[in-house]
Parts: sequence; structure tokens; C-alpha cells
Amino acid sequence: MTAPLIDPFHRAVNYLRVSVTDRCDFRCVYCMAENMTFLPKKELLTLEELDRMCSTFVRLGVEKLRITGGEPLVRRDIMTFFKSMKRHLDSGALKELTLTTNGSQLERFAEELYACGIRRVNVSLDTIDEGKFADITRWGRLPQVLRGIDAAQAAGLRIKLNAVALKGFNEDELFTLAEWCASRDMDMTWIEVMPMGDLGNEDRLDQYWSLKDLRARLAERYTLTDLAERTGGPARYVRLEETGQKIGFITPMTHNFCESCNRVRLTCTGQLYMCLGQEDMADLRAPLRGSESDAALENAIRAAIALKPKGHDFDYSRQKVDGQMSRHMSHTGG
Ligand code: GTP
Ligand code: 5AD
Ligand code: SF4
Repeated sequence: MTAPLIDPFHRAVNYLRVSVTDRCDFRCVYCMAENMTFLPKKELLTLEELDRMCSTFVRLGVEKLRITGGEPLVRRDIMTFFKSMKRHLDSGALKELTLTTNGSQLERFAEELYACGIRRVNVSLDTIDEGKFADITRWGRLPQVLRGIDAAQAAGLRIKLNAVALKGFNEDELFTLAEWCASRDMDMTWIEVMPMGDLGNEDRLDQYWSLKDLRARLAERYTLTDLAERTGGPARYVRLEETGQKIGFITPMTHNFCESCNRVRLTCTGQLYMCLGQEDMADLRAPLRGSESDAALENAIRAAIALKPKGHDFDYSRQKVDGQMSRHMSHTGG
């Protein structure tokens, strides 16, 4: 029996997020620059290496595996990887295998994903206005994503919508989005925009919309009841009594939830980031490639967890963005 992963602040690390590609078929303004240079293919972990990496984490007690990107479903042959991960669900070692996607490829893959044991998918969607969607994603087209959501629900996948709260952009859709999700039996979560990457576009400060304000506006129309339930993620949920639906809030800026952090992030090149908002990382690709046995890899993982920082320090105070991350979100996968 191997000892579970516990960090210096006594937090058990049982949730691994894995970015399988830095590429994406969209160019969301808060996530990527329009002209991105992506990593050369040889830098990426192969699908076999990703499997070995994830399986090692599962052996060390990881129970929840979320596949992200970039856009995970644009990675070639990614279904081979999902199919292979199913064995950890079957054995009971893994409690949940899931992904965060922009939805563009769901029409094609929904049924296969369900067959791999995936039951819940988070879809990033900030607006249901076609014109606004094209503006914010630059390259995305809303009808394609809506067809993807339809296909996913038809395949039996439960959908949670993730919307980044952006002042002057989707403020006016607060109720529209809630009602749309209720009518389709989908959960939804609002996320505060974080200062990630130098995107050379709009000032993030102008876009920042606090979820305290969003919540207060929601409460003008609905009765909100705080829920104790957790999905193993940082969202805190309320129920809208009038519709019965759940709405989540992820508040990295106004309420730091790091004290209950249970996750680490693996990039597509095999670097382990111990926190989304800090630069600390450990290279796991070298120990993985350096030896056929997993002993060196296990040691490197334990050593990395021993360095997990207490928390992030994003801060928008006083007209300047502090704690700005030089990394793009597509690198660490959100
Ligand atoms: P559930 O399993 O549905 O609870 O998912 P989750 O919230 O863990 O994952 P999801 O991919 O839906 O996360 C949504 C977004 O929340 C991420 O893309 C990030 O923007 C943000 N987020 C998730 N985890 C963290 C974290 O540890 N720190 C910070 N600052 N933000 C996070
Ligand atoms: N701040 C908050 N959320 C972000 N995402 C991407 N960039 C940012 C940012 N700067 C979200 C996407 C998606 C998830 C992968 O990360 O909308 O839901
Ligand atoms: Fe792609 Fe998601 Fe980044 Fe948008 S937020 S560019 S969909 S990875």
C-alpha cells in the first residue's frame, strides 16, 4: 500500500487536472492571443506517456482526473487515452474521469466519451448570443457548440456550463443564461476572470466583474439558498428556489478557496504545477523518460507535492493587476 499524497498544509491531493494539448480551435480573448505559437509535437507527452503518468498518480491516491487543454478534444487520437483510462474507473481506483471542453467537438465524440465511463462534462460557454460568442472566442461558432451540447445530453452526459463573468460583456445575460440552463436541465458556474498571461489585448481590470456583485443581482430576482454540497472543485453552490437549479461561483479573486485545495495540474509537456496562481513547478517528464520503472517518477511526484504552496495571490486592487501570471491558461488547463 502506497501512502497518499499529502502536502505541507495537510491537504490531501486527490484531484489531478491534465492538459493534453496547448492547442485550441478557439482564441478566447481572456485566454489566448490571436497569434499563438504552440509547442512542437516532440515536446508533448505521447499518449502512452500520459497514460503512465496518470496511472502513477492514480496509484498514489488520485481519485478524480479531469482532462483539459487547450481544447482536449483536438488532440489527435485522444479517445485512445480515454478508453485506456476507463480501466481505473472499472477497478474502482478512480471515482471520476471527466473533461473541460469548449464543446466544439462534442457532436463527434459524445457517445464515445460516455462509453469510456465519463458521466459529466464541463463546457466553457460565456454567452448564448451568436455575435458575442464569435467576438469573445474569435474563431468559435455558437451553433457548433450548441449541437455539441445537444449530442452530449442525448448521449447521457450531464453538462455543467462554465461562464467567465465579464463586465459589459455577459452582465446582461445573467438571467438569460440561468433560464436557458434551467430549461435544459444543466448546472452552471460563474468564474471570476483571473489575470493570466500577457495577451496584449483588453485590460483585464476593465473586464473584471466580481461575483459578489453578480450574486447580489441574482438575488434581486431569485431566492438563493446556500448548498453545502461539493463536487471536489472550488465552486460553492446555491439553489435558485424558483427554478430548482444549482448555480456555482468560483471566486479566485474575492474569496480565496486555497485552504481546501486538493488539486495539482500536469501540463502537456509533463510539468507539474502545484498551484494555478504560482510559478512553482516540477518537471516529471525527465524522471518518466529516464527509467522504465516508475520509482523515480513516484519520488519526483512526492517531492513536488512537498512543495505545494499555500495559495495563489491574484489581486486586482488599486487600478493595477497584481499577481499577474506570465503563463497562459491554455498551458495549465484552468
Ligand atoms: P467540478 O468538478 O465541476 O467542480 O469542476 P472544477 O470546478 O474543478 O473544474 P472546472 O474545469 O469546471 O474549473 C473551472 C474553472 O475554475 C477553471 O478553469 C479555473 O478557471 C477555475 N479553477 C479551478 N480550479 C482552480 C484553482 O485551484 N484555483 C483557481 N484560482 N482557479 C481554479
Ligand atoms: N480567468 C478565468 N477563467 C479563465 N478561463 C480561461 N482563461 C481564464 C481566465 N483568465 C476558463 C475558461 C474555461 C476554463 C478552462 O478556464 O473559460 O472555463
Ligand atoms: Fe480555447 Fe478554452 Fe482557451 Fe477559449 S478558454 S481559447 S476555448 S482553451
